[in-house]
Amino acid sequence: MASSPTVSSALWRDRRGQLSYLRVVTLAILVWPLVLVGIDWARDALGGRVLNELIHRSGWWALAFLLVSLAITPLRRSARYGKLVDVRRMIGVASFCYAATHLSLYVVDQGYDIVKVATEIVSRLYLTIGFVALLGLVALAVTSNDAMVKRLGGVNWRRLHQVAYLIGVLALVHYFQQTKADVSVPTIYAGLFAWLIGYRLVARWRGEASLTAWPLVGLTLVASALTFVGEAIGISLSFGISPLMVLATVFDFDLGIRPGWYVLGAGLAVALLDAVRAYTAGRSKPARPLASGKVAAAR
Ligand code: HEM
Repeated sequence: MASSPTVSSALWRDRRGQLSYLRVVTLAILVWPLVLVGIDWARDALGGRVLNELIHRSGWWALAFLLVSLAITPLRRSARYGKLVDVRRMIGVASFCYAATHLSLYVVDQGYDIVKVATEIVSRLYLTIGFVALLGLVALAVTSNDAMVKRLGGVNWRRLHQVAYLIGVLALVHYFQQTKADVSVPTIYAGLFAWLIGYRLVARWRGEASLTAWPLVGLTLVASALTFVGEAIGISLSFGISPLMVLATVFDFDLGIRPGWYVLGAGLAVALLDAVRAYTAGRSKPARPLASGKVAAAR
């Protein structure tokens, strides 16, 4: 993992300094939210409270890219595409950049009154939680370079970067707490996050190679069931109705597609990808597990 003299600093080049299409596509995806803002701004479609809209969008993308960075491990294995790990840091740092922009926009929204911002962060729990999550992202961003990997040592560095899961929990709590009405989108995020945590736990317990298509289907069924049940409990607490009544409407698609279905769809897509890649590769040969030392130790 140590830096070599040939390492290029250009984001679109790989470690050998060659143009990487994977990196170019990733960069395009990472700046896409900014392009969308530009388009909506030009169409005058950012609404009446532009700053508020941008605060929401930047927070949303910060969390989305955090989850995508955590999804790289299962995706690289299921797709048998080890190269994906090359863009994981880039995605994680992008998550930090959107979160930092999110806070900066909040400061602007508060009229650059830093004392007021600090007071708000200390006195409102959802902002305190967001702030702690942001501090975690800072720690990950400043250590996301080869020099820090070398300084900390691979095992310590990986251990530190497990904090990304805790940051995910905090960011989700922050998201739920600030959502006033419809919690469907945060629930989808939470369900996908539960799937990712489940993947990590099974990988530690049984080894990542055990996560072939059928275990992935099992994991997906558990994560989506948790999402349906969690949503039902949340709705029953908010509106004082029985969670069983909410669960009974899960197949009523006239009421909309419930978060659990999205989790089911995403998880089954990964399982299918794994099955197809195992089939096309003949005898399934998993990509080198991410935390090879840890996985080996866990076995
Ligand atoms: C000091 C740190 C932070 C502050 C001051 C902050 C502040 C805010 C504010 C003011 C809102 C809008 C609330 C409303 O309109 O009622 C918000 C929403 C949100 N924030 Fe943060 N936040 C912080 C950190 C973070 C971090 C680190 C993440 C994710 C990694 C994040 C993700 C979100 C999300 C997902 C939303 C909701 C977006 C939506 O409605 O679509 N925030 N935050």
